[in-house]
Amino acid sequence: MATAPLIVQKTAFQHALLAWYRTHQRALPWRTSPSLYKTVVSELMLQQTQVKTVLPYFARWQKEFPDFKTLAAASEDRVLKLWEGLGYYSRARNLHKLAKAVAAMPAPPDTPAGWQELPGIGPYTAAAITSISFGTQTAVVDGNVVRVLTRLTADATPFKDSTSAVKVLTPLANAVLNPENPGDHNQAMMELGATVCHRQNPLCTICPVLAFCTGAKRGEPEAFPVLAPKIIEQRAVTRVWCVREEKLLLHRTAVSAKRLANLHELPTAEHLGLEATAFDKTTLVAKKKRGITRFAITESIHRAPAPRGRLAEGLVWVAVAEIDTLTLSGPHRRWVTELLAVKP
Ligand code: ADE
Repeated sequence: MATAPLIVQKTAFQHALLAWYRTHQRALPWRTSPSLYKTVVSELMLQQTQVKTVLPYFARWQKEFPDFKTLAAASEDRVLKLWEGLGYYSRARNLHKLAKAVAAMPAPPDTPAGWQELPGIGPYTAAAITSISFGTQTAVVDGNVVRVLTRLTADATPFKDSTSAVKVLTPLANAVLNPENPGDHNQAMMELGATVCHRQNPLCTICPVLAFCTGAKRGEPEAFPVLAPKIIEQRAVTRVWCVREEKLLLHRTAVSAKRLANLHELPTAEHLGLEATAFDKTTLVAKKKRGITRFAITESIHRAPAPRGRLAEGLVWVAVAEIDTLTLSGPHRRWVTELLAVKP
């Protein structure tokens, strides 16, 4: 039997989804006793990051910065330290700026347009915050929601990337939004994508909206969405391992940098005015691979002699005993800890 179009069955769909969410949602700390502040912090932390990664960061954050005012009064160093390892550090800087702006207002904005004026808030985050906190009737569309909607409707449109998929699916997401409870509906869609409608091996047998799903009825839910393969670019970075008198040479991002100020990393060869060709196998200390967005980066860390004379801009000698007190990005924290243990 063919499935009636989702839009035709939307009320039954909304009820099935919401009933499932009410009983099966994960007990997340920003849901159990929600507030506008917790919603804002969690939505920023959840951008590009999974719930299980966010949980310990959210708990520490709440303890130290329980509200907009406390966060607004914090130092950028402290804000950054609590974000250490979560990545995409501009989110921390934006959240800090946002708290200062909100703390200075008579009342926080309550519309998507008002929130989008604030740093770090795009249409997606504005829709999430305002639907959850103010009941605004705006659909949230992220990768999870794209997956759920394209499967429900067996939409085989080929999308060049997830941004274009979000754009195309936003009208449908708004058309099936539950007007009585848009915040829970939005969270239920995301929750369904995260916990049931997996990219691979979706759990269709326990899906609350299986009866509405054309993709599943055709026996090929995993065929949707149709996304062009990501083009991965290879990048090579040469970094320097330089230890002298119990001190390690690091590079500190400038206050004016696009990334958060005072983030410490192993310096690149360029930071020391050296060419990558100055190094070879004999100087190699470690080779590390990591992926950031569409880049596959190979980082070769080489031993180098201590630079002479005045240090170039951004370079700092840091006592090994004090490294824990600084903020290092996640991979650099791991590399430095590992290398100090084996190659002091
Ligand atoms: N991802 C981003 N925001 C979310 C939310 N409120 N619930 C579940 N997953 C999310």
